[in-house]
Amino acid sequence: MSVTTPARSHRVALTRAYHFSAAHRLSTPALGPEENARLYGPCHRPHGHNYYVEVTVTGPPDPQTGMAFDLRVLDAAVERAVVGEVDHRALEDVPLLAGVITTGEGLARAFFHTLEAELPHGTLAGVVVQETAKNRFEYRSGA
Ligand code: NI
Repeated sequence: MSVTTPARSHRVALTRAYHFSAAHRLSTPALGPEENARLYGPCHRPHGHNYYVEVTVTGPPDPQTGMAFDLRVLDAAVERAVVGEVDHRALEDVPLLAGVITTGEGLARAFFHTLEAELPHGTLAGVVVQETAKNRFEYRSGA
């Protein structure tokens, strides 16, 4: 059996994990202090998480290198545009999250759109934010 080069249309999804630690406090400007406290419970008080972020990119494996995406390019973009901005900060003070309610949903969406502008067009497929061992939020291209 001969080894054949995959067709260019065959894309591989590659997911890489990153980590940061940050403080946050859930609050919506749509509600007053008492309603916010009732809605978010203990999450309305300042507290922190050790977050994990999974970034998925897709591409056709390059026939010469065998790589679908250069991990150094991905690492540089994620470290500069996301991790470097949020690590050991209060998320409400981070410029890229201005106006974002810092739920896992809000973070996944904001990180996706930040990275979409940093990576080659059409390569970013999804961003997952894992806030705790129990909570995992996924934002996909086209969502
Ligand atoms: Ni929290």
